[in-house]
Amino acid sequence: MNDGARFREDIPAQEASEVQALIARMRHLVSARDKGAAMHKRDVHIKMHGLVRAEFTVPDTLPPELRVGLFARPGTYKAWVRYSNAASYADADIARDIRGMAIKVMGVPGQKVLESQADADTQDFMVVSAFNFPARNAVEIDALVANVVQGKLWTKVWFLLTHLSAAWVLLSTMIKQANVLQIRYCSVVPYLFGSHAVKYVATPRVPEPDALPSNPSRDFLRDRLVEQLGQSDAVFDFAVQFQRDEACMPLDDPFRIWSLDLSPPRKVATLRILKQSFDTEAIRTYGENLSFTPWHCLPEHRPLGALNRARKAVYDTMSAFRHEANQVPRREPVDWDV
Ligand code: HEM
Repeated sequence: MNDGARFREDIPAQEASEVQALIARMRHLVSARDKGAAMHKRDVHIKMHGLVRAEFTVPDTLPPELRVGLFARPGTYKAWVRYSNAASYADADIARDIRGMAIKVMGVPGQKVLESQADADTQDFMVVSAFNFPARNAVEIDALVANVVQGKLWTKVWFLLTHLSAAWVLLSTMIKQANVLQIRYCSVVPYLFGSHAVKYVATPRVPEPDALPSNPSRDFLRDRLVEQLGQSDAVFDFAVQFQRDEACMPLDDPFRIWSLDLSPPRKVATLRILKQSFDTEAIRTYGENLSFTPWHCLPEHRPLGALNRARKAVYDTMSAFRHEANQVPRREPVDWDV
């Protein structure tokens, strides 16, 4: 395997200042939202359904082309998994939204890409309940936040009417979900996989999908998670979807879905969410204080593309910001130590 040199990226000169403008907007949003609250929370994905213990198993039977980075080190790793709604406010779970599954695999030695956590023995994978994203870079996400999240009704409508691709992605990805353990999740944006580009796809093993509740409680996704994990494990097949064709599967256009027919995901690990009880005050607080970022990874799994580049400074700065405001040290877990 080479070092992924063909994925060296040309970074526009103005990009750093565009990312800083986005960060300034996000800091302002969080400060205004959480002013006077007991805790500063994440900018987005603030509603946590649960932080749960899981095992991430890399089999020793993978073919050579899949033995890359973490997937070249067979074994069962302990992990934390955080389930969330994507919105920047804590709405009722029946609301249309995107859902997140953030995976932190522990006991992964080796220098990580993100400088501020280079020596931590963790590796993060972040996936959502969507296969595309309504912005391609920092400028587009900044405009989306300014007009759709912060804007008045008319500004929202005008923005969506004049940005039909983004409007379509929002409309098709923000949907109701019955159970966070039954969603097929995707990384949406690409990552290096040795000398290839891949997206991550996590597919639940679900014998019979739940229906939406007829009389949903505000937090029914949490209630279902508590109930199901109180009775049994839940299992996801964690896979990589290779970029097969640069035209149909572009690296830098998250509006475009990579066809699952053209490139079926190839399983590289099993994510087993363990039977457990997790809904305690201590674990909730622990989950609030954890941070996930796509850049906390082995170099073989480096994030690719403009949107991911923007995420590097955004996640690092925004996590530091909320930890400082809450006067809580930022630390990476080494075990299920709560
Ligand atoms: C430029 C685009 C994006 C921006 C600016 C952004 C921003 C953020 C921020 C600020 C956080 C909270 C970080 C913290 O305080 O610890 C977050 C969390 C999250 N983001 Fe993004 N995001 C972007 C794109 C994406 C994409 C493409 C995905 C697809 C997988 C994604 C998935 C998530 C998830 C799952 C979380 C929750 C992590 C947790 O549970 O703690 N984001 N995002």
